[in-house]
Amino acid sequence: MTMSELYNPDKYDRCLPLLIPAFELAREVLASQIHALGEELKSASNSEIAILDIGCGSGFSSIPLLASFKNLYIEAVDSDRRMLESYRRRAQQLLTDARVLANVVDLACLEPISNKADQSRLFDLCLLFFVVNNFSNEIREKILLHALLMLKPGGCLIVWDIFGFQSLEMQSTMLSNEIDLISKNFDREIELATEDEALELMEEKIKWVQHYKEDNFYPPVAFPSDDNGLRLIQYHTDSTEVLFRHGLQVILMFRKRR
Ligand SMILES: C[S@@+](CC[C@H](N)C(=O)[O-])C[C@H]1O[C@@H](n2cnc3c(N)ncnc32)[C@H](O)[C@@H]1O
Repeated sequence: MTMSELYNPDKYDRCLPLLIPAFELAREVLASQIHALGEELKSASNSEIAILDIGCGSGFSSIPLLASFKNLYIEAVDSDRRMLESYRRRAQQLLTDARVLANVVDLACLEPISNKADQSRLFDLCLLFFVVNNFSNEIREKILLHALLMLKPGGCLIVWDIFGFQSLEMQSTMLSNEIDLISKNFDREIELATEDEALELMEEKIKWVQHYKEDNFYPPVAFPSDDNGLRLIQYHTDSTEVLFRHGLQVILMFRKRR
């Protein structure tokens, strides 16, 4: 199955809450964290809050979380033009005074960046929502490192994802629960839908179950650490905090040392 079959913005927004267990609860946890961070950043500086939304998709998960921010600059990157277009539209509707730059980037081919990265182009907050699970561990590690390198000192990286953060044994035990849950969620919506919508939802359900079964099964990702051969790069993490865990879903927060 190709990425563009899976990530069609017209259908994705409807499906995401059906795919992610306790989606709303997780979003509430994130909303309060992001709000607190916004207040901290606002009082620390009068300049724009700079956000990098990596694998931004349609902005369905991230943009509503940023709606209380003023004076925002967002760089949103994704490989899919339709997702980026949908992101731009949603940002225009919900983030009235944000400057948004949406760029096509293939995360599988990230160019390594160094500690010489232009400091004025670093970000206060990087978001990686449901992105790293799409890639092999080698690429996942590169994406995580890239996100950390793109942070300003004191900046924050939030990873919200499923799969890839637990042992393989744990992932395989939980996978069948996850598939049951998806099936139940879709079936409930299908019952309430019109005939055309129901057909569409059935197709989506089949696609996503197949994707979960076939595509997302890697050993736990290794997080970049200060002492794993990256000494040339000026990057340190103070802490990695698990904000939320539910089934295979996890929200992690990294702060970069000042
Ligand atoms: C599950 S969606 C997550 C979207 C968004 N972050 C969210 O929370 O709704 C995964 C996103 O990763 C993008 N993606 C997949 N492969 C990619 C690649 N090689 N480079 C950049 N983006 C990619 C897809 O287009 C899709 O928008």
